[in-house]
Amino acid sequence: MKKLAILTSGGDAPGMNAAIRAIVRIAFCKGVQTFGILRGYSGLLENHFIELGPRSVSNIIQRGGTILKSSRSSEFKTREGLKKAAAHLDAEGFNSLITIGGNGTSRGAYELSKIWKGQIIGITSTIDNDVYGTDQTIGYDSAVNTALQAIDKIRDTADSHERFFLIEVMGRDAGFIGLQAGIAGGVEEIMIPETKMTVKDIHKRLCAGRDKGKNSTIMVVSEGDEEGRAVDIAHKLKALSPVDYKVVVLGHTQRGGSPTAADRLLATELGAFAVEQLIKGKSGVAVGKSKGRLVLIPLKDTWSKKKSLDPFLLKLLPLLSS
Ligand code: F6P
Repeated sequence: MKKLAILTSGGDAPGMNAAIRAIVRIAFCKGVQTFGILRGYSGLLENHFIELGPRSVSNIIQRGGTILKSSRSSEFKTREGLKKAAAHLDAEGFNSLITIGGNGTSRGAYELSKIWKGQIIGITSTIDNDVYGTDQTIGYDSAVNTALQAIDKIRDTADSHERFFLIEVMGRDAGFIGLQAGIAGGVEEIMIPETKMTVKDIHKRLCAGRDKGKNSTIMVVSEGDEEGRAVDIAHKLKALSPVDYKVVVLGHTQRGGSPTAADRLLATELGAFAVEQLIKGKSGVAVGKSKGRLVLIPLKDTWSKKKSLDPFLLKLLPLLSS
């Protein structure tokens, strides 16, 4: 008899609830008893378990955030924290754990798998999409669409007033949101950590754009760009020419809201697949989707290997804003 615990950890992402719902319902159909751990790894260290059944996950598929709450735990990263977590799982009689989150969550799951004898499967979910081995993480599509809606709205006013806007999007170490939302929004410039564009380069390109008759410009800046945050870049640009650069930071709006259909479907597939794989005896892996197929990725690969941006999109970028 399996007794399964599930948790969500790190930055929340739209679609986490859809994954929880799929796990609970598929587990129920397969005779697996399921509990939720509240507030991620912190809740595991504090013994916050609640039993979940099919009715506990009604009416959540469309809701952003996570009904299990989330947190970032520094104690869990320590040897003592990991031992305490394993002891709590054993004391409650759990023999399996599903974690839902991004790189930090996968890393935590990997470290726990080295000392806890139960099965562990990770579900890849973060708006940043920077998880190796899966084409898209749960929450990424919703975040891109949220950023895109903002870009479209700002475009209207930028065009009317003939202004220059810098829109900062999330992505701590990766430019996935910046690149996709920027290209889909038809922006003029994109600054992301993966490209080595300096403020001087950008300034030159903006001047060239003005010379070509561009009266308004939208530039997307990924928060992880090495030249700084959008507000710093605007200051640096202003020092090069006295233009009134407007800055909009989209921030946590990208983490909230109802998940898109694509995210709900991905979350449902990955949740169900994770339960099936547990029943087959798999452990130490994350579930994802690559080239249209559900895949298992060694937990360690998800955070230790680097996922690349689409090189074709990167190549198109300077040409599309010609
Ligand atoms: O979850 C990913 C993410 O949203 C990053 O894009 C961002 O840098 C970070 O989390 C923000 O985390 P917090 O909400 O803890 O400040």
